[in-house]
Formats: sequence, structure tokens, C-alpha cells
Amino acid sequence: MPEPVLVLGATGTTGSRVVETLTRQGVSVRAATRTPTVENQVRFDWAAPETWAAALRGTAAVYLIAPIGVADPVPLLEPFLRESARQGVRRVVLLSSSAVPEGAPGLGAAHRLVRELAPEWTVLRPSWFMQNFTGTHPHAQGVEAGELVTATGRGRVGFIDAADIAVVAAHALTAEVSLDTELLLTGPEALGYSDVAAILAEVTGRPMRHRSVAVDEFAARLTELGYPADFSAMLAALDGDIRRGAQDQLTSTVTDLTGWPARSFRDFARKQWTTAR
Ligand SMILES: NC(=O)c1ccc[n+]([C@@H]2O[C@H](COP(=O)([O-])OP(=O)(O)OC[C@H]3O[C@@H](n4cnc5c(N)ncnc54)[C@H](OP(=O)(O)O)[C@@H]3O)[C@@H](O)[C@H]2O)c1
Repeated sequence: MPEPVLVLGATGTTGSRVVETLTRQGVSVRAATRTPTVENQVRFDWAAPETWAAALRGTAAVYLIAPIGVADPVPLLEPFLRESARQGVRRVVLLSSSAVPEGAPGLGAAHRLVRELAPEWTVLRPSWFMQNFTGTHPHAQGVEAGELVTATGRGRVGFIDAADIAVVAAHALTAEVSLDTELLLTGPEALGYSDVAAILAEVTGRPMRHRSVAVDEFAARLTELGYPADFSAMLAALDGDIRRGAQDQLTSTVTDLTGWPARSFRDFARKQWTTAR
């Protein structure tokens, strides 16, 4: 088993769950963050390349999250992966997205980089996270306000729990034989945002609706919320793709690899909002 494992984005949505899962499994973990505070954490900052080598040193596998909010991450990912290869890291598991096929601009180009520069690799392509309705994500504000605003129309998405992504990531990081493949990951059902609103209304007991706006209007909203303009345009365009049915797809990969069903949105919402009240 390749260890220790360096987990990038270790305080974030998927990374924190990857750290938890690996730790529970007894795997040695180095948790990367810009501000380390506890013993198993190491300083790592995409904006400070001098932090990369020390974070990688002595590790055998990396859970790789591209720099957040960057439309084209390749200029950072390529030198990072070269440093990782130089240090003899065996395995890289890249978090990509169901919306990003290999070769697509930006993150799509990273798939090829990982395949070419890492001796062993897996590319995870999860659907939209259920956690987008919690924390600091714009949809969490929508939940608070009782109105989810998207540009998705009636399009449906195979929302997935980040905990299920983490279990698959842990498997890809530690399996004796590397998977060396791309994995499209979804939850158990494809839901429109109106379905999500109905489930949230039922679970929270508060009124909740979905309002679909034009892609441009949605991009402008995201920019107002503080996202860079190019990144906002990219996220809003993805909503347009959802509207056209691009994310209306399901896979059984989580169950195939973990042996148990992927969590449903209703279950996720019950756990999230009945314990929060
Ligand atoms: N949300 C979705 O529905 C969805 C769906 C499919 C794919 N994805 C993909 O998921 C990825 C995001 O993963 P995530 O949600 O797990 O991450 P996240 O929660 O957004 O953030 C991960 C962590 O990145 C760290 N970070 C921020 N700036 C950094 C920097 N300059 N250098 C180093 N670390 C930095 C932060 O940790 P510290 O503050 O501790 O440094 C943060 O906790 C994106 O690539 C996205 O395309 C998202």
C-alpha cells in the first residue's frame, strides 16, 4: 500500500473526508493546508511553490485537488506533478469533475498530465456535491433565503455526497493495484433543483423554491458574490449544460467499489438539517 499519503485541500469538502477515511483505515496521512496547526498537517500553498517539495518529500501517494477558483490550473499542476515525479511519488489521484472530460480546457488538460507524469493514477469525475447546499457555497445562501437560484431550468444532476467521493478516493489511493482509470461518480438518483427544493422544504419544514434564470444573469450573480469573472462565467455555463441534460446520468461506481449504496439526497438532507436544528 503506498503511504504516507499527501492530501491536498485537506481542510476542504472532499480533502477533510479523505483524511478522515484514510485515518480510520490506519493509513498514514500528511494533511496539506496553508495554515497548519496540528501535528499531521504540512504547509502547502499553490501560490508559494517553495512549499511543494517539503510537502511531497517521503510521500508515496497524493490526493490532488487543483487550485480553487483558477480557470486554467495547468501552469501550476504541471510543475507540481514534475516535482512529485522527481521525488518518486508513486500514485496520484486527481479530483476532477463529471463536467470535465479528458482534454476539455482547464482541468480537462490535467487528466493527461496525471496519466503521463504519475506512474500510477486515477482521475475521479464526481457529479455536483450535495455539500453545495451547506457551508459557504452560494446555494447554501439560497437554502437560508428559501430560494435556490440556478440557470439549470428543468435539467437534472446526479448529486453525490462528498463522503462517498472520499471513500472511493481512499480506495484509489491505497488499493494494492492502482486503478489507472477515470471514474465517473454520481449519487443514486438524478434530481432537478426543483426536486432538491422540495426535499429541503420537507426536511427543514421551511418554504423552499427553485428559480431558474438565464446563464448570463447567473454568472453576474456569482461575480457579485465575489467569484472571479472568468470562473463565474465557467460555473454559469455548466448550469447551461445541465439545462440541456448533460448531467442527467447515473453510475453505480460508488456501490461497485465500496459495496454499499451511494447516499441519497434525502438521507443527506435529513442528517444535515435535523442534527443542525
Ligand atoms: N462542488 C462541486 O459540486 C464539485 C463537483 C465536481 C467537482 N468539483 C471539484 O472539486 C474541487 C474542489 O474540491 P473541494 O470542494 O474538496 O475543495 P474546497 O472545499 O473548495 O477547498 C479545498 C481547500 O483548498 C485549500 N486552498 C485554498 N487555496 C489554496 C492555495 N492557494 N493553496 C493550497 N490550498 C489552498 C483550502 O485549504 P486551507 O485554507 O486549509 O489552505 C481549502 O480548504 C474543484 O476542483 C472542483 O472542480 C466540485
